Amino acid sequence: MEFDDIFLKTVDSTQEWAKKNVAKFDKSKITCISAETQTKGKGRFNREWLSPEGDNLNITFYFQLDSKCLHLVSIAHILALSLAKVLRDNNLDPKIKWPNDVMLDDKKLAGMLCEIQTKNEFADIFLGIGINVNADEKFLSKIDQKATSLKVETKRDWDKQKLLDDLKIVFSNNLKLFNEKGFEPFYEKFENLLLYKGEKITFFDGQKEYKGILHSISSEGKLNLYMPTKEMLTFAAGDIISK
Ligand code: BTN
Repeated sequence: MEFDDIFLKTVDSTQEWAKKNVAKFDKSKITCISAETQTKGKGRFNREWLSPEGDNLNITFYFQLDSKCLHLVSIAHILALSLAKVLRDNNLDPKIKWPNDVMLDDKKLAGMLCEIQTKNEFADIFLGIGINVNADEKFLSKIDQKATSLKVETKRDWDKQKLLDDLKIVFSNNLKLFNEKGFEPFYEKFENLLLYKGEKITFFDGQKEYKGILHSISSEGKLNLYMPTKEMLTFAAGDIISK
């Protein structure tokens, strides 16, 4: 799939901007909206996403999918896997903290936010990604969880545009495969990158906390949690809050 690129200097949130301007986008392409700075970046569960001026990548990919072939959870998994591939190509060793945080050295490097609006046979997908690229330690210390950036990990500046270009190529190839075959071709790769697999975790599903063992993911990308009661619980959304 081809891309249309939109560059913004400052915006509240690329997600909100994309939703307001969706009528103008070419539906046969992926629209890639990037902003230097966001004044009101959004994370999952309505959390704040901090975007220091010019240091990081703040992106929303907009595209349409057939509403029948939708697995909300796994679309964001595809983007996480795409970023993991780009990082591996740069000799890094990323892991994925379910559902789709990309981690380096147990610290969060990137997060995804997927919002879907379904109408008739097509669904509008607003898939946001924030990557800490050249952010410094001072900025990272303001984040309410352990976070890192590519610069901090590798002790060098990164070319944000090159990183985005590489990500776009991998993502569009993966999205094509996902469209044709669903999550199946990605399932094994995803499970191999899963952080805390086989370990005891505390999981929050948006309402309640659960303590169990991160057993596996389902073929659709959901999380299987093995409970002390020997019961297996499957979650489509939520967050690992601690190990
Ligand atoms: C998370 O880990 O909670 C998701 C973070 C998603 C942040 C990105 S930055 C670009 C896009 N615009 C937003 O307001 N949020 C997403």
